[in-house]
Amino acid sequence: MLDVEDLSIVFPARRGDVKALDRVRLSVRPGEIVGLVGESGSGKSVLSYAVSGLLDPAARVTGGRITWQGHALDPLRERRDRHAPIAQIFQNPRASLNPIRSVGHQLQDVGGKDSVRALLESVRLAPEIAGRYPFELSGGQCQRVGIALALACEPDLLIADEPTTGLDVTTEAAVMGLITELSRSRGMATLLVTHDLPLAATHGHRIAVMHAGQIVETARVSELIGQARHPYSAELLSATPQHAARAEDLHVIRGLLPDLSAPLPPCRFAMRCARHQSDCDAAPLSLTEHTPDHLVACRHPLC
Ligand SMILES: Nc1ncnc2c1ncn2[C@@H]1O[C@H](COP(=O)(O)OP(=O)(O)OP(=O)(O)O)[C@@H](O)[C@H]1O
Ligand SMILES: [Mg+2]
Repeated sequence: MLDVEDLSIVFPARRGDVKALDRVRLSVRPGEIVGLVGESGSGKSVLSYAVSGLLDPAARVTGGRITWQGHALDPLRERRDRHAPIAQIFQNPRASLNPIRSVGHQLQDVGGKDSVRALLESVRLAPEIAGRYPFELSGGQCQRVGIALALACEPDLLIADEPTTGLDVTTEAAVMGLITELSRSRGMATLLVTHDLPLAATHGHRIAVMHAGQIVETARVSELIGQARHPYSAELLSATPQHAARAEDLHVIRGLLPDLSAPLPPCRFAMRCARHQSDCDAAPLSLTEHTPDHLVACRHPLC
């Protein structure tokens, strides 16, 4: 099981440290798919890099820890061990591929010679892609090679950062089907990072909602969709296209993410929140249990 406990990360900067993660708490159990959702800039990639040990060396861990099956993971140390149980699908797939090695060779390095064809097929790529180099591929093709590479090493934990963004719906379904199948058959744990709440709701078991470096709510999918308690989760839900019949009915979340290099209040959503009251700016706020599986960080939750 993956456990992120009160993880805080800052990026030192002259104008003021960027407080990218604030006491982030999250767990992913074997066989479970946890969707991590939130607006652009909320810290989803920083968290996924930290779990994979690929965090920018400039970052400073100011608190908390990450453990996998009880063993501490260093956010700044990549696990180069080929048998490492953790694999990451990167948000920028082209940068994660070796530019001077063919796709076939890269897949072979991880999965063995006989697996190349099947790996390509699993992400709906034709066998001839094996002979190509990353610069000869489209963005979506690179992304699918990245996914095949991540899954080829049969990870116990998959960190998938926007794995299907930019893919057509058929390929998206194939990729998500593959992840779901591996979760079920091998007990692979998956952190599914996405700004696409419906995608997380369709394929995830639980959802964690992130805003400005803080996890504001985690709950089982049905509970989060039906009874979101944090005002930001509720706003995210009403801002998803599925909930609006016409484009002009689409709810827009007011305000912008706060400047993470400025001094911040305990609740980083406070300045955008319609339910804000003066006690929101008082003592530190933390995720508290509504039920054991439903945690909320809000002094004035809905329902
Ligand atoms: N290497 C870095 N140095 C300084 N600041 C960084 C660095 N990486 C990320 N940040 C800052 O951390 C915050 C979170 O960034 P992150 O990339 O995790 O967002 P995200 O939720 O993944 O967004 P998106 O949906 O656009 O991918 C941002 O304010 C970003 O500017
Ligand atoms: Mg990101």
